[in-house]
Amino acid sequence: MRIGVVGGGLMGSGIAEVCARAGVDVTVVEADAAASERAQARIEKSLDRGVRSGKLSAEDRGAARERLAYSTTLDDLEGADAAIEAIVEQEAAKRELFQRLDAVLPDAEFLASNTSSVPIMKLGAGTSKPERVLGLHFFNPVPVLPLVEVVRSIMTGEEALERARGFAQDTLGKVCIDSQDRAGFVVNALLIPYLLSAIRMYESGFASKEDIDEGMIKGCAHPMGPLALSDLIGLDTLLAVSQSLYDEFRDPASVAPALLNRMVEAGLLGRKSGRGFYDYSKER
Ligand code: CAA
Ligand code: NAD
Repeated sequence: MRIGVVGGGLMGSGIAEVCARAGVDVTVVEADAAASERAQARIEKSLDRGVRSGKLSAEDRGAARERLAYSTTLDDLEGADAAIEAIVEQEAAKRELFQRLDAVLPDAEFLASNTSSVPIMKLGAGTSKPERVLGLHFFNPVPVLPLVEVVRSIMTGEEALERARGFAQDTLGKVCIDSQDRAGFVVNALLIPYLLSAIRMYESGFASKEDIDEGMIKGCAHPMGPLALSDLIGLDTLLAVSQSLYDEFRDPASVAPALLNRMVEAGLLGRKSGRGFYDYSKER
């Protein structure tokens, strides 16, 4: 099987890695040469981490590398069996990309989006075959977290849905849950208001960021606190998801706190930029 992964950022690189490790040929398409190099470096680093932790043999790392190709041209996906989109969380950019994927891959089994919150129907609507457009929503870090949300729009066909679910479950070994095509799907509809509440709590001076995070780790056995998790997700992505949720449900719990807006405007995007609620500059 050969799959195209479009966007090689935090999520696209993780998705490409798990596909390659599962024996799938993958072409990662990035926006430009510099972004493509960053995607390759991210995947290499994660494969090396797998070998270091004993989860991956050096031989399997070599085999995974051989299955990965990198490109900056969507036309290089021609003939792929399916594609997974993982570009920035911007509806207009995703809509345009799905129209282009539709033209480059007329025979692909499914065109999936890893969107956190954009309703899938908005992406399928501009294509000639909305029945093969669906959501496969992976979780960060993709090599670690087992879940994939399978999202069916009102136009998604049974055949594409079963192919995509089979791919995620049987080929990649992920655990799938089904979601209706509503902004945020199941997990983010619950998670994002919680993260925004934590930011509001910190912004209001109610508690320190360390105490908020420590409280949820030690008091509720979460693997990380909400402010560290916001940094892991990326504050630009968190802001975009909150906007999609608010557009859909008009729930005040999904309104972005002013601090989140200011941090994104300042380029403080979390781990990926080196600074968010915490400083990661020494880890880069
Ligand atoms: N890639 C590959 N492996 C990774 C990794 C990465 N980026 N990050 C961590 N790991 C592996 C490590 O190698 C380690 O494996 P071993 O135990 O075999 O050594 C294991 O995961 C644990 O890692 P660490 O010991 O370094 O750190 P940790 O125990 O603090 O775990 C964490 C780090 C996995 C990120 C953990 O804190 C965690 O699961 N946090 C919650 C993440 C979460 O909630 N994600 C969902 C975000 S929401 C989302 O994804 C949806 C959306 O649309 C926004
Ligand atoms: P990111 O900012 O790390 O990466 C986005 C990548 O897309 C960048 O490398 C950028 O160069 C590339 N890109 C932008 N436009 C492109 C185009 N037209 N063609 C090819 N590449 C393009 O973002 P991310 O965190 O990887 O998020 C990607 C998608 O996955 C978003 O829809 C996001 O909502 C979703 N998602 C994110 C998380 C998370 O925790 N960060 C979890 C699940 C889903």
